[in-house]
Amino acid sequence: MPDPVRIGVLGCSAFAVRRMLPAFEAAADTAVVAVASRDLRKAVPLAQRYGCDAVDGYEALLSRPDVDAVYLPLPAALHAEWVGRAMRAGKHVLAEKPLTTSVSTTKQLLREAEDRGLALEENVLFVHHPQHDFAADLFASGAIGELRSFSATFTVPRLRDDDIRHDEALGGGALLDMGVYPVRAALHLLGGPLELIGSALEGESATVDISGAALLRGPNGVLVHVEFGMDHEYRAEYELRGSGGRILVDRAFTPPADWRPVVRLTRHGRTEDIELDPYDQVVAAIGAFAAAVRKGRCAWLECLEQARLLEDIRWSAATRRRRPHTNGANGHHGRTTAVRDSSPRNSTNS
Ligand SMILES: NC(=O)c1ccc[n+]([C@@H]2O[C@H](COP(=O)([O-])OP(=O)(O)OC[C@H]3O[C@@H](n4cnc5c(N)ncnc54)[C@H](OP(=O)(O)O)[C@@H]3O)[C@@H](O)[C@H]2O)c1
Repeated sequence: MPDPVRIGVLGCSAFAVRRMLPAFEAAADTAVVAVASRDLRKAVPLAQRYGCDAVDGYEALLSRPDVDAVYLPLPAALHAEWVGRAMRAGKHVLAEKPLTTSVSTTKQLLREAEDRGLALEENVLFVHHPQHDFAADLFASGAIGELRSFSATFTVPRLRDDDIRHDEALGGGALLDMGVYPVRAALHLLGGPLELIGSALEGESATVDISGAALLRGPNGVLVHVEFGMDHEYRAEYELRGSGGRILVDRAFTPPADWRPVVRLTRHGRTEDIELDPYDQVVAAIGAFAAAVRKGRCAWLECLEQARLLEDIRWSAATRRRRPHTNGANGHHGRTTAVRDSSPRNSTNS
């Protein structure tokens, strides 16, 4: 068994405290050696809880030689700066989603990681859960005939007004925070190419989008509908709709480790619930990151294509907003994603 990858955590974020730190502790191949905060008083109790060092400020953590890799759970707009700084300090990086707020910066950082021989991974956890392979295999077995459409939704209840997701300067908004999931699900389940047909973003305030939806065209003309929002009922699901039935995966994106996934198959007027074993996708994601650190590289095609699609969705929605009287008829954006075959079953890396 190789030595554990030594992790430094940049920021005492709520998600780090709730899910990632317990999982780093549970994972066999990582050890948290330091937790940094802008405010040392936040880091001290966490460091005590996990038996590691509390560090005052992110830069001080990056200068430590005993840190191999950093976990970066900062607000989205700060990811690019600190991913760059961490890599220039020679650290591998597990960065929270979205990796950055623009496709050009995402591409630049992924290239830089490759050039430096560092693993740079976007922390999209659900792709590590085997329930998606199960659903894909069920479809591939012909259970629902030919695929006609794919629909995915991630919506959450209203967040506190001071949540980072309500702050445009911090990279807030439903598209960047929640839209990642249904878009990634389409890429992960269908592969590429995905081409945007149209999108809409809505918000009660002028600063961030609170909800949105997009229609895309996938491989073989399959229609893809994605929906996301942060003032909604909790929903995290996708459905593969075929010529002879459909497959629904509920709790698709954030299932707790003890959750028994249920894949619902409907065909010939009958519905069958197929129960799967519980699985800890957070510990699995950490294991995958540790393996990538040892190799010095990550698979990144889906991450890049996701960034491209998110940007297309924003661009198309903005175009539509600027032309309120076209009714969308001429509001096309004329961009397609340059996705090669990004099927997870085919892609390894670049
Ligand atoms: N992968 C997943 O399933 C998942 C789930 C939830 C969230 N996330 C991601 O995790 C990231 C953090 O989300 P969260 O809900 O944990 O947010 P949060 O509790 O607000 O944490 C953000 C942290 O960033 C640090 N920070 C640095 N500059 C900041 C600034 N100007 N304003 C606010 N915070 C600042 C703070 O740490 P210090 O004060 O200690 O320095 C703060 O605790 C986001 O990118 C989000 O998308 C991912």
